[in-house]
Amino acid sequence: MKTRTHRCGDLGKEHVGQTVTVCGWVDTKRDRGGVAFILLRDVAGKVQLTFAEEINPELLQATREARGEFVLSATGKVRERDKENKTTTIATGEIEIAVESFEILNTAVTPAIEVRDDLKCDPELRLKHRFIDLRRRPMQAMLQARAKLISAARATLEAEGFLDVETPILYKRTPEGARDFIVPSRAHRGQFYALPQSPQLFKQLCMISGLDRYFQVARCFRDEDKRADRQPEFTQIDIEMSFVNRDEVMALFEKVVAAVFKALREDKRFKDQSWPVLSESSVTPPFERMSYEQAMRDYSIDRPDLRSRDLKLTDLTQWAAGCSFNAFKGVAEKQGLVKGLRCPGMAEQFSTGQLKNLERDAKGMGAAGLANLKVTAAGLEGGIAKFIPEAEQQAMIAAFGAQPGDLLLICAHEKHKVVHAVMHNMRLLIADKLGLSDNSKFAISWVVDFPLFEYREEDEKLFASHHPFTLPQDARRVAEMAEISRKGHEPHPVARMLRGGVKLEDVLALRNNQYDLVINGIEIAGGSIRMHRTDWQADVFELIGITKEEAEKKFGFLMSALAHGAPPHGGIASGVDRFLMLLLGLDNIADVIAFPKSATGRDLMIDTPNEVEPLLLKELGVEMKKE
Ligand code: AMO
Repeated sequence: MKTRTHRCGDLGKEHVGQTVTVCGWVDTKRDRGGVAFILLRDVAGKVQLTFAEEINPELLQATREARGEFVLSATGKVRERDKENKTTTIATGEIEIAVESFEILNTAVTPAIEVRDDLKCDPELRLKHRFIDLRRRPMQAMLQARAKLISAARATLEAEGFLDVETPILYKRTPEGARDFIVPSRAHRGQFYALPQSPQLFKQLCMISGLDRYFQVARCFRDEDKRADRQPEFTQIDIEMSFVNRDEVMALFEKVVAAVFKALREDKRFKDQSWPVLSESSVTPPFERMSYEQAMRDYSIDRPDLRSRDLKLTDLTQWAAGCSFNAFKGVAEKQGLVKGLRCPGMAEQFSTGQLKNLERDAKGMGAAGLANLKVTAAGLEGGIAKFIPEAEQQAMIAAFGAQPGDLLLICAHEKHKVVHAVMHNMRLLIADKLGLSDNSKFAISWVVDFPLFEYREEDEKLFASHHPFTLPQDARRVAEMAEISRKGHEPHPVARMLRGGVKLEDVLALRNNQYDLVINGIEIAGGSIRMHRTDWQADVFELIGITKEEAEKKFGFLMSALAHGAPPHGGIASGVDRFLMLLLGLDNIADVIAFPKSATGRDLMIDTPNEVEPLLLKELGVEMKKE
């Protein structure tokens, strides 16, 4: 094989007259009798190879063997194309190589998917033939952008004094919300490792070790229900810092985000892409901050899509408490929630059938219904309007700040969760209809002041809303509650606290030191200031029902480490995959990962998970039960 002198896509007018050798794959071939053209593709782009009878008739004959995706090496002189043959469809469109010699380095069978930029086919077929799919320019550009994102983050962090530390993959079950993937141990039969859901505790241990500033491009594993923005294994840019407050961590991460945007925008390799990150809209730190409370009040979600920031929800619970429509009134009386969305000027934009479909969607989310009302100059029209007297109609219109021509969508339910889910989804749908979900715009905001705990009614349990290592804003109040809980005899901490005179609403009003960064409704990073004192950590464990013995068994190492002079510390982790999805304007996370899992969690190309030999299971002491 002749040594390559240039990459196909790097050639240009400046090389005219030079003899070059290029290597690559046959992208397309056109045979025109006395002359044949092969478009040769490599990682840098495509270049036209021209085989002319007048240069070498044998060569022309030999090209007839070459087919799509054959691997070639070709040597020849670069020349400017005739005026009528110049093209702008490829970057090297002004030139061609008049081939003097070439070699077929390998043949290729016909691939199951076409290597073309605008390929449209079954996504599973692409995953099954991923090595072919990755030959396509959009996929290679995506991988280049991914690497660029990581290197820009790395460079920023290293310049700020962060040390890249690798932490174990064979780890231990810890409660981070999702289900763990577990790995049986052969050396310790009957015992299991767990794959890390994140390096959370190790990075805290790094701080206790005095490393001051840690980062890692870390692989995380979570056995969760699938969603378009979730993968069972994903990557975080994981950060932890000592002796910092919330503002300092947030400011640091803003630098990382700004550096990533800048690096991608300035990279010349991406000039053929139309990614949102390359468009004009700018992201300039410091980013705005919104409290959890405001996010829930205005948008019914803790990661609001602020591209449609003016499309706010209205809380009608108070109005409902005094209204004549019994279904709403009943919900308000039972401490439920009634919320509505004003869809500006959209009264005539939905057919009766479409409105029924919206209601069906709402019911699918657990709602009893979704009321729709049209605002006219005279008052409200449609559906439940007849149950609402005029004065109440006017009060509702005023609460919404509605105008004639608006459509109002209202959901009421005893469970706030149901109303939030329905109204968030309706808001997204209406925003889309109003053209307020333009992917080339980035609406970026921090969400802060999250509740410390979430409450699960079914078993009266509290959960840490971020993770149980997050510092409460009022650690003293938490200590008082924990003290009351420790003294009680009821089976659950909530019951013990209630018996001790603590109100559940006071527990749920506690706030933590968490901060999430949200872009266009997607949480791209989350972090918090941690507890660095064992007593504080023990208090939170107490309230989420982790007993002293359990804490010792699961987190003995952490408690011991905290007792050895842990510095105040905090950090953040960014989901690389989600961040990249947004930057490139893609809506499926699999499209930003080289070798992702399918929607059902399989690797379709290498075909895994799969069964293993019985002997292996025997050695592990694991027995398979037939269903
Ligand atoms: P958290 O669980 O919020 O925090 O995760 C941080 C970020 O990781 C991304 N992410 C995911 N991306 C793809 N697929 C998934 N299944 C998935 N789950 C999470 C999100 C999220 O914002 N240890 C803490 C961070 C800290 O406190 O420092 C943690 O893992 O973008």
